[in-house]
Amino acid sequence: MSMDEIYQQLKIKLHDVVPDFELKYKAELAHEINQLKKEKNAVILGHNYMEPALFHSIPDYTGDSLELSRQAAETDKDIIVFCGVRFMAETAKILSPGKTVLLPAKEAGCSLAASITAEDVRNLKKQFPGVPVVTYVNTYADVKAETDICCTSSNASAVVESLNADTVIFLPDEYLAKNVAKETSKHIIFPSKNGIGKFNNDMDYQLIGWHGRCEVHEKFTVEDIENIRAQFPDVAILAHPECSPEVVEASDYSASTSAMIKYVEQSSAPRYLLLTECSMGDNIAAANPDKELLRLCSVRCPHMNEITLEDTLDSLKYNQYVIDVPEEIRVKAARAVERMITIG
Ligand code: 13P
Ligand code: SF4
Repeated sequence: MSMDEIYQQLKIKLHDVVPDFELKYKAELAHEINQLKKEKNAVILGHNYMEPALFHSIPDYTGDSLELSRQAAETDKDIIVFCGVRFMAETAKILSPGKTVLLPAKEAGCSLAASITAEDVRNLKKQFPGVPVVTYVNTYADVKAETDICCTSSNASAVVESLNADTVIFLPDEYLAKNVAKETSKHIIFPSKNGIGKFNNDMDYQLIGWHGRCEVHEKFTVEDIENIRAQFPDVAILAHPECSPEVVEASDYSASTSAMIKYVEQSSAPRYLLLTECSMGDNIAAANPDKELLRLCSVRCPHMNEITLEDTLDSLKYNQYVIDVPEEIRVKAARAVERMITIG
């Protein structure tokens, strides 16, 4: 596609969101990225949270964590450029060890991934011997390597149920764990970080959680929902399952980022509010001009927002930042991720 074609395409989708002079500049960057992508035999994976001009111009595939993991596992390209955060790029490397995986911004982290270490998981396993461990993909490779199976927001309850176990350790998102506990009718407890031996093992619990939080989704409150509904009584509210159970309960629908997109595409509410990273609202509005989206844009993911078209261009030009996972950790982490992928 020529630069002008990219510009025209962006203009159709984003004329209400991005000023024209900026669209021209972004189209130039996108054109250069797409040329380099071809020359270097690279594939670009873009998470649903990417900013609108990037999201609608350079990714070969867009999606939620699960969909992008699948694409990373299946690609025949030499280079995977991951427009997302570090744990996602690491998951791509875990599944495609022979490929070069690039993350355009060095520091694109995640508060959930930062909330738990491999040592924490080893301590929990000592505290609850023999109990299977499920970890959310929003964790680093060494944490995944200590666990039996991973999950994403789109398959968390199915993964827990697939284990057919009396008790399951579910890490590290406190809110996702509580939402899964509710969905699977399980009773949940939260051990303290150094609380070995503190629990009465006769107690009736089936899920053991951790106090990790998404710094974005924890900010939404039931009061926000009440305020929005007071002003727009006909709004459909969609909450990501990293929101608190109270927020999920007060919403109309809760699911992964891609499932939220499908919900908006396939339903016909007068307007929608997404309780998640605000760029996704822009991306949906751009792709569905007939839908009205309300946005709470003071809540942003600083990590996802680190990924820009400029950084993606530099990433391809200078082969940066290369994601590596030590082989002994990768092999163990791959078992947990692949086991999840077979569940769907
Ligand atoms: P999804 O898997 O639903 O895309 O979520 C990833 C994420 O980081 C949400 O904050
Ligand atoms: Fe992590 Fe939350 Fe950002 Fe998702 S939105 S990458 S869970 S900090």
